[in-house]
Amino acid sequence: SNKSPQLLFPSIGFICIILVLRWVLYFRKGLAWDGGAAEFNWHPVLIVTGFIFLQGIAIIVYRLPWTWQCSKKMMKFIHAALNLVAFIFAVISMVAVFDFHNAANIPNMYSLHSWLGLTAVILYCLQLVLGVGIYLIPATPVSWRAAFMPLHVYSGLLLFTSVIAVALMGITEKLIFALDNPKYKDSPPEAILVNALGVLLVLFGALILWIATRASWKRPKDQILHTLHSNGGGEDNIKVDSASSQLSDGADAEACADVRKRTTKFDD
Ligand code: HEM
Ligand code: HEM
Repeated sequence: SNKSPQLLFPSIGFICIILVLRWVLYFRKGLAWDGGAAEFNWHPVLIVTGFIFLQGIAIIVYRLPWTWQCSKKMMKFIHAALNLVAFIFAVISMVAVFDFHNAANIPNMYSLHSWLGLTAVILYCLQLVLGVGIYLIPATPVSWRAAFMPLHVYSGLLLFTSVIAVALMGITEKLIFALDNPKYKDSPPEAILVNALGVLLVLFGALILWIATRASWKRPKDQILHTLHSNGGGEDNIKVDSASSQLSDGADAEACADVRKRTTKFDD
């Protein structure tokens, strides 16, 4: 199958990071931790680099074919670590904007953007804690892991999508607040640049969602690779239908059935 989105998504992500940096460094007052506008600027920068880019990569990291020779355990650590770093970036970005608001005597938590944004950060934390508890701690029964997987995937994709939507609201607010003479409606270069950033964030999200929902790009079960490399299995496993079928109803059912035919173990 065509794997070109797997090459496209990091480039679009990098362009987003360049655009947000160009916005705050060239059009705004740069980056500093001084309670002023330059401290606010950490808010969009950390959101785009951490909460959007790193989270996006964390989500599709199991689906990069060149990682399929790595153990599932190793990939789970990478997935968890990337999500943890994304969360830390999001928390620091929250501190930056609250600090800026308090220093400038701007009320906290008045906007829809801030309500949905803070909710997303809190639920992301919950997702992280549950993910560690269920998939990283060895004591958790495999049957629990399997039972929880559809919810983990659903809430993960919902959170990622929501974070991009919240970022678009924040971008729009900021342009309306900050642009003055020329105003946003006069389409100055800054507005064009940041509108383009918003479009690319949507594109980045769309590609991540595409990659994360293709049944044919699902990581093959370790058993296959163990067999291929003839170095044995060794993990305890039970016969359950795997997460590979969670998002693969309808059009992908065939590709998925093909994977399932060759695999009977759940190694999540
Ligand atoms: C404020 C969260 C992305 C612009 C806030 C506040 C929160 C928040 C909780 C309220 C701070 C306070 O009340 O003191 C988020 C989250 C984001 C995100 C979770 C990630 C999706 C962005 C982006 C921008 C932005 C990309 C673009 C510049 C703003 C602005 C404010 C703000 C202008 C101040 C006005 C307001 O409170 O609505 N953000 N934000 N945000 N954010 Fe974001
Ligand atoms: C799969 C999101 C934290 C373990 C997934 C998927 C998403 C996701 C969207 C589906 C990916 C796919 O189908 O290819 C998230 C988010 C997290 C998070 C947003 C943090 C807020 C964790 C943590 C662990 C974990 C801490 C612990 C190891 C797994 C496992 C899978 C998975 C085992 C299944 C991979 C597979 O099907 O091969 N996660 N996750 N997740 N996640 Fe997470």
